[in-house]
Amino acid sequence: MTARREPAVPVAPGSVPGLGHVPALLRDPLGFLGSLSHLGGVVQIRLGPRVVCVVTDATLVHTLLVALAHDCPRGAVQSTLKTAFGDGLLMSEGQAHRNRRRTIQPVFGPDRMAAYVPVMQQVAEERVGRWQAGQPLDVAKEMNHLALEIVTRALFGARLEEEATLAFHRALPDMVKGQIVQSLYPHPAFARVPLPVNRRFDAAVRVLNRVVDQAVGSTGGQAAADGTLTALLRGAVDPVSGLPLTEADVRSEAITMFGAGTETVSSTLTWLIQELLDHPEAAARVLAELDEQLEPDADLTPEALDRLTYTRSVAQEVLRLHTPNAFLMRTATKQVELGPYTVPAGTELLYSLTALHRDPALYPDPLRFDPERGQPGSAAGVGRHAFLPFGAGKHKCIGEAFAWAELAVAAATILRRWRLSPIPGERAREVVWTAVQAQGLQIRIEPRTDDRRPALPALAALSAPAGVGLVVPAGPVVPVGAAEVSR
Ligand code: HEM
Repeated sequence: MTARREPAVPVAPGSVPGLGHVPALLRDPLGFLGSLSHLGGVVQIRLGPRVVCVVTDATLVHTLLVALAHDCPRGAVQSTLKTAFGDGLLMSEGQAHRNRRRTIQPVFGPDRMAAYVPVMQQVAEERVGRWQAGQPLDVAKEMNHLALEIVTRALFGARLEEEATLAFHRALPDMVKGQIVQSLYPHPAFARVPLPVNRRFDAAVRVLNRVVDQAVGSTGGQAAADGTLTALLRGAVDPVSGLPLTEADVRSEAITMFGAGTETVSSTLTWLIQELLDHPEAAARVLAELDEQLEPDADLTPEALDRLTYTRSVAQEVLRLHTPNAFLMRTATKQVELGPYTVPAGTELLYSLTALHRDPALYPDPLRFDPERGQPGSAAGVGRHAFLPFGAGKHKCIGEAFAWAELAVAAATILRRWRLSPIPGERAREVVWTAVQAQGLQIRIEPRTDDRRPALPALAALSAPAGVGLVVPAGPVVPVGAAEVSR
C-alpha cells in the first residue's frame, strides 16, 4: 500500500442508504453544514448517488474562489438558473463572463453611486411615506418591495406596475425552492420530469421573465435612458462577434440583477430591523449617529453615508450573522489541491457563506449579535478571509457597493422617519433555501404623535422573548432621538 502525502477527505457521518445526507441537509441545512467544520477543512457528503465535498474552512473557501477560480467554475446550484435564464453574469463562465463583466462594470462604478443614492432615497421615502400608521406592517414584504423598486428605478430607470411587483414576489420563492431541489437531483434530466416542484419552478421562471420584460421594455419602445443598465447593454457590442447584444442577452442580465440584487438586500434589511429591535442599545447608537451626522432634511449622498460608521458596523454584523447565500457550488474541472487535500477532477464542491460566518472557531459565541466584533483583517477583528458575504474572486458580487449604499439609505430613511417598536409574538424566522430568508415578521403599527412619544421602559414592557414586531408611528419626518427604536 502506498503512503498518502495528503490527508484523505473525511466523510461526514450519518449517511442514509440511498439518500446520503439529503435528509440531514433538508432537516437543518445550516446546523448540518456547521457541524462539519470540526471534521476537516473539506468534508465529503453524499447527496443521493452524488459525492459532494463541502469546503468548511474560510481560507480554503477563499482559495477555491480566487486561486482555483479558473479550474473550479460554478456548479449545480447556479446551473439550474442557467437553463432558466440563459447566460447572464451570474451564470456565465470563462471569456464570456469576463467580457460581460467588463461591459457591465461601469454601471456599478464608484462614480455611479452619486446618481443612485438620491434615487434610492426617493424610492425609500415614497415607500415608507405610504405606510399607514395604525395598520400592521409586514417587514419582509415591505423590504422585498423596496429592494425590487430600487433596482428597477436605479439600474433600469423603469417602474413596475404594482401587479408585476406582487407577481415577482409570489414567484420568487418557487424559483429558489426549485433551484435548491433541482441542484440535489442525481441527474439534470430530473428537472424535466413534471413533478410539482419542477412545474412551479417553470411557472415562476415564466412570471419572472414577464416582469423583467416590463422593466427593460417599459420605456415604451423608446431608447432607454442614458446611464441605465438597459441603455448600456443595448449599446454594447460583443467583443468576439462584433455584433450588438441580443434582446435575450439584455433580458438575461436584467433577470440576473433582479434575482441577485433584491432578495439578498431585502432579507438583510429585515434582519437588520429585527436585530435593532432585539438590541435597543445598538438601535440607540444608530439613531444618535443618524441624528448627529445627517442634516434633518438634506439629501443623502455617498459622502454622508460614509460618515455613518456605526450604522455600517451594524449592517456588517447583520451580514455576518444572517448571510443571505446559504449554498453556493463549484465543480473541479481538473484535479486541484485545496490546502492539504487533493480533489479529483469532476468533484462537486459546496460551500455555505452563512455556515462559515457562524463558525465558533472564527467568531466566538457566533449567534450573538455584536457590532463591536471588529473589522475583518483588523487587529481586533477576525482573519482576512473570515468575512465573505459578497464572495471573492472573479465572481465577487458586482453589486457590493450598490448594496452597502442601499442598506444605509434604507436604514436611515426608515429610522429617521418612524419609531419602531416590537409586537409580542411576531419575530423573523429563518427559512433556508439557497438563500436565508427572513419570514413571518408580522407587525402591528401604532399611531404616534410627537407629544406622545413613549419612553423606552414603557416600550420595553411590550416585548416578550418570542415576540418582535414593528410599530410605525404617525407623524411628520423628524430627526429622531435615541429612544425611538426600542425593544
Ligand atoms: C446584501 C446584498 C448582497 C449580497 C450578500 C450578495 C452576495 C453575492 C455573492 C456571495 C455573490 C457571489 C456568488 C458566487 O460566487 O457564485 C454575488 C454575485 C453577484 N451579485 Fe450580489 N449580493 C448582494 C447584492 C447584490 C446587488 C444589489 C446586486 C445588483 C443590483 C447584485 C448582483 C450580483 C451579480 C450580478 C453577481 C454575479 C457576479 C459575477 O459572477 O460576476 N448583488 N453576490
